[in-house]
Amino acid sequence: MLKGREIVLGVTGGIAAYKAAEFVRLLVKEEASVHVVMTRNAQEFVTPLTFQTLSGNPVVTDPFTLIEDSKIGHIALADLAEVIVILPATANIIGKIAHGIADDFLSTMVMASKAPVLIVPSMNVNMWENKAVQENVKTLVERGYHFVDPGEGELACHWYGKGRLAELSEVKEKIEEILSPQDLRGERLLITGGPTQEPIDPVRFLTNRSSGKMGYALAKVARRRGAEVILISGPTSLPAPGRGIKVFSVRTAEEMREAVLAHMEGCSVVIKAAAVSDYRPKEISEKKLKKTEPFHSLELERTGDILEEVGRKKGDRIVVGFAAETEDLVANGRKKLMEKNLDLIVVNDVTRPGAGFGLDTNQVKILYPSGEVKDLPLMSKEEVSQIILDEVARLLKQKS
Ligand SMILES: Cc1cc2nc3c(=O)[nH]c(=O)nc-3n(C[C@H](O)[C@H](O)[C@H](O)COP(=O)(O)O)c2cc1C
Repeated sequence: MLKGREIVLGVTGGIAAYKAAEFVRLLVKEEASVHVVMTRNAQEFVTPLTFQTLSGNPVVTDPFTLIEDSKIGHIALADLAEVIVILPATANIIGKIAHGIADDFLSTMVMASKAPVLIVPSMNVNMWENKAVQENVKTLVERGYHFVDPGEGELACHWYGKGRLAELSEVKEKIEEILSPQDLRGERLLITGGPTQEPIDPVRFLTNRSSGKMGYALAKVARRRGAEVILISGPTSLPAPGRGIKVFSVRTAEEMREAVLAHMEGCSVVIKAAAVSDYRPKEISEKKLKKTEPFHSLELERTGDILEEVGRKKGDRIVVGFAAETEDLVANGRKKLMEKNLDLIVVNDVTRPGAGFGLDTNQVKILYPSGEVKDLPLMSKEEVSQIILDEVARLLKQKS
């Protein structure tokens, strides 16, 4: 979602300035357009050449000389910026912004810009806890500045405590949130993701190829758009989806069913992206099954149909289902949409290259009760999530 977005990165004179170089790489990898502004003191830690090479754009280092050379004045950059990120932010820059001091390019640009400003502080623990710094942070938060607070750990100055620069992935997530429409604010979404595991004996189980990536992408994007998110996750190897998402881990279809029914109260939207097993072994062997027989039959029984139950009890909630199909996509999807009382169903042909389990991309069709079909091209699971949530936001608006 950062592709083509204009991000101005202010780098100030803290020991974590070297991490800003890695951050530029991260943003450029996402195809963001990054413009770096360095304070004079930041240049004692890292050279402008590093940032110029990594960003592919001129670096502003001085308010009075380079502006003319590079033709990037503080007003031009202040207007261009969709978001200004200050990373690392020193106690000094925080103090200057809080008190309206504009004595260099960065502080002047911040004052001249209407863009949202994200401040990512990093400093010695005693500096961070200093009353003046805390007062300044409080003032800025009250004025609508965004922060990603420092983490705790061993600091470069060998003190232990709060002051480490936050994880870069967390900062990127915050930028994505700032740049997202907040059209799901005030809504609570229940999202399911991942596979289920149905035990056969103490060491074996029946499962499927779902990685959980679609459900996790939906949860992240919904959170960014301001929603409160409850994610019911089957077993996956994915990292936690980030701050602000309540994750409940389950294993079997029955555990998934119980968790969904327990948490759907109070949710205005339910999105069922989990790949729930349709069958489970009728008997679970208490002991590991031995290979004594040439053949072994497993008797299977149906698991509860969670989507059907949610559809039946949906009240005025929006319910979105997913269907992974290998044939007759639209016909099968439509049948499920109608039978389960859904508002939308997202179907994908898991046999197509780039679509389906374990991948970062997906190619889906969205089916509506009206008979309309939206056929989407191959795109990332985050992009698919944006489109699904656009539809959800539209339906919520219609209802209200
Ligand atoms: C080696 C060294 C490391 C420093 N590290 C930090 C730091 O991590 N955080 C901070 O707020 N200040 C740090 N400072 C102090 C700032 O460099 C100083 O306050 C300076 O005025 C900041 O200027 P600027 O905000 O214009 O870049 C450090 C200073 C030195 C000499």
